Amino acid sequence: MIHVGIVGAAGYAGAELVRILSAHANVKLTCLTCRQDAGERFDTIYPALSCWADLVCHTYDVKAFIDAKVDLAFIALPHKLPMAIVPELLDNGIKVVDLSADFRFKDVSAYESCYQKHTAAGYLQKAVYGLSEIYSEQIRQTGLVGNPGCYPTSILMPLIPLLKAGLVEKQGIIADSKSGVSGAGRSASAATHYCHVNESFKAYKVASHRHTPEMESVLTDQCGGPIPLVFVPHLVPMTRGMQSTIYTGLKGNCTEADIWDCLAGFYEDKPFVRLRRQKPVDTLHVKGSNFIDIGWKIDPRQNRLVILSVIDNLVKGAAGQAIQNMNLMMGLEQTAGLWQPPCPV
Ligand SMILES: NC(=O)c1ccc[n+]([C@@H]2O[C@H](COP(=O)([O-])OP(=O)(O)OC[C@H]3O[C@@H](n4cnc5c(N)ncnc54)[C@H](OP(=O)(O)O)[C@@H]3O)[C@@H](O)[C@H]2O)c1
Repeated sequence: MIHVGIVGAAGYAGAELVRILSAHANVKLTCLTCRQDAGERFDTIYPALSCWADLVCHTYDVKAFIDAKVDLAFIALPHKLPMAIVPELLDNGIKVVDLSADFRFKDVSAYESCYQKHTAAGYLQKAVYGLSEIYSEQIRQTGLVGNPGCYPTSILMPLIPLLKAGLVEKQGIIADSKSGVSGAGRSASAATHYCHVNESFKAYKVASHRHTPEMESVLTDQCGGPIPLVFVPHLVPMTRGMQSTIYTGLKGNCTEADIWDCLAGFYEDKPFVRLRRQKPVDTLHVKGSNFIDIGWKIDPRQNRLVILSVIDNLVKGAAGQAIQNMNLMMGLEQTAGLWQPPCPV
């Protein structure tokens, strides 16, 4: 049995980790931490998890993780905080999957240009970017994973195979994404207040979101760069779910069947990738699951490809992929604890 601890367990990504891990046959949750609800049982904070999660949350202390014999810790804190605690966990032999951006970049200056000075930069080279289907071999070998952002997961997974195969142009890619409000986390702000989100649809951080350099650095690593993206995120009035619509120029006389051959070959034996050839792509179809559904259509008048991808931002976009990475790191089947059907409605 793998002993697991979660830092920031009471946030949305943390709670999703608790939900999925509570039913994971190879996992025992032994340590949950938070600040505001410290001293509370987890199923008091999230009553939906009654009968599943009765552990009491405590404030973070590395000693508690050692005493609880934690083998692997998930960090579900806001960006800029994990760098202060990840080194002490690793130094005590505890593997780490960090859901923030702190260990997603190899190049410290790229991280510092959009976040802040990195105080644990020496660990960046040891960290593996946790896009599970792309970096699975490296993830199996590492003790530290920087789990991807939700937008990057939905955009990079369809793009990487097509760029690698040379089917699409490297220049002029546009990614237009929509996210449910849980992507902004549990703390309410004016921007995520019900009155500002309900009956509302808005773009934010247009062509200036911090996920752009994250995606461009992965595309450079995988496909050779530079591959500049125009990325426009939007907030939509739903709780969970994310759709990305990606516009690219096609090289040569590529057909929709060629796109199928490329993606089907690349993602053969990757159980969480579902290709939706001439079928609808809808956030509802992946709700509560670790699937990514990918569809596409060619506009022959302009020789452009339109790719549609959907994920549940809290599962494949956060906790589910983090658990998939834990499974790889601990030598389990990557589907362990995750092979569940999506909610039909
Ligand atoms: N939500 C998503 O869809 C999603 C997707 C991909 C990645 N992520 C990443 O996952 C991490 C957690 O995101 P989330 O959506 O779960 O956020 P969240 O709901 O705001 O949860 C973060 C938790 O961290 C704790 N925390 C500890 N110290 C804090 C501090 N100084 N300031 C604020 N909070 C502090 C808070 O609980 P206490 O105050 O009780 O300690 C809070 O519940 C983030 O790095 C985020 O970027 C989230």
